[in-house]
Amino acid sequence: MKSLVAYYSRTNVTKKLAEDIAKKTNADIEEIIPKVNYQGKLGFMRGGKHALSEKIIDIENMKFDPADYDVVYIGSPIWAGKTSAPVISYLKQNEGKFSNVKFFMTAGSPDFEKAFEQMEKFSAKPLKTLGLTTKEVKKDDYILDSFLE
Ligand SMILES: Cc1cc2nc3c(=O)[nH]c(=O)nc-3n(C[C@H](O)[C@H](O)[C@H](O)COP(=O)(O)O)c2cc1C
Repeated sequence: MKSLVAYYSRTNVTKKLAEDIAKKTNADIEEIIPKVNYQGKLGFMRGGKHALSEKIIDIENMKFDPADYDVVYIGSPIWAGKTSAPVISYLKQNEGKFSNVKFFMTAGSPDFEKAFEQMEKFSAKPLKTLGLTTKEVKKDDYILDSFLE
């Protein structure tokens, strides 16, 4: 089974999880890189605003085409209770190319349902979802087995 992990990460938490998933599934992995600056205090505020308005932003060209894969794992941090703008933009850019998807998200507090529904709206019904807190990821306090099955 050919798998792809596509993710965005501002402070490397979702990235850590993405790399773990890719390693365990032998998947290709690719980072979504926004052309918008989300770093620093101003970037944080911009991120919240863009997430709330579901803003479609420009992202760097990607190497892998999700249409070429049996399963696509899509990872995002939660921003203002929603999916981060870079990930929504990636999904929008690849509209119609997703069939078997699995979503994984990280957030300060464990409230993921709305954001999972939002990702589904922009791609497809997920086979599985996984939501972990920043703390759980940093402390390796999670088990991936059932998510990867
Ligand atoms: C703009 C912005 C908004 C955020 N909003 C929320 C939120 O609404 N709820 C929450 O639990 N965490 C929120 N967070 C925290 C991140 O979801 C959390 O730190 C995440 O693990 C970061 O992942 P990353 O390092 O992959 O970017 C927010 C972070 C940013 C930058």
